Amino acid sequence: MSSGHPSRRTVLTMLGLTLLSVFSAFLLGGFRIVVPPKHTAWEAGEALTLPPPRLKGEVTVEEAIASRRSRRKYSGSPLELWELGQLLWAAQGVTEPNLKFRAAPSAGATYPLEVYVEAGSGGVKGLQAGVYHYKPENHSISMVKPGDFHRELCSAALGQEWVGRAAVNLVVCAVYERTAERYGERGKTRYVHMEAGHAGENVYLQAEALGLATVAVGAFHDKQVSAVLSLPENHKPLYIYPVGRKP
Ligand SMILES: Cc1cc2nc3c(=O)[nH]c(=O)nc-3n(C[C@H](O)[C@H](O)[C@H](O)COP(=O)(O)O)c2cc1C
Repeated sequence: MSSGHPSRRTVLTMLGLTLLSVFSAFLLGGFRIVVPPKHTAWEAGEALTLPPPRLKGEVTVEEAIASRRSRRKYSGSPLELWELGQLLWAAQGVTEPNLKFRAAPSAGATYPLEVYVEAGSGGVKGLQAGVYHYKPENHSISMVKPGDFHRELCSAALGQEWVGRAAVNLVVCAVYERTAERYGERGKTRYVHMEAGHAGENVYLQAEALGLATVAVGAFHDKQVSAVLSLPENHKPLYIYPVGRKP
């Protein structure tokens, strides 16, 4: 007599058939599990919130200062997205959300610095190659344009090959008028550049603490860098920080 429920034998047969079809699919697919890269469908203007910064690390600030060096050789293996986020946070991240204060000090909290990322193909796991703009307010990056611009940026930096070989290049730019509005000429010719130094040292120390390698690059053709990154007219490049894993 039927109770309306499938018998134990029917259930086992169905389960067996399901497992068999999954197994066949694996065989036909050559045992490949294809995990689609996460951020491939990006378009200019789209934003990606970065993983929240980690506030505990394995290296003390004293150890990072003692071992910091300008490093121009990189292993070629990609960075993790959280590592990119950590470097950007160290450069300009918001550390006091209520007052919008940031990781690096700023004259009168005028915050004249903007940070861009030029990510090469395979430079950051799951991140499409392209130029991105860091938004400290919500710890996100928004795409300026897709594509691998390593060769062009390297050429703009007088052919310094570490720029071409890095996983990513962080580009620290200045919007002079933000500080000049309050402090005039002194703001423009001194304070903004001092701030780029503060942000840069944070990048160095954060890279060192994560076992990454970087170097401050100040020698480049300004106009060429601006063109490669499609920077707004008033965002002036001051520093390029190529970053990669130590070899
Ligand atoms: C303002 C500034 C500009 C720099 N520009 C470059 C550069 O264009 N290319 C480069 O390879 N290193 C550059 N450096 C890195 C210096 O060469 C490096 O800091 C110096 O040799 C001391 O080595 P250390 O950083 O390992 O202590 C620059 C450093 C500073 C502070």
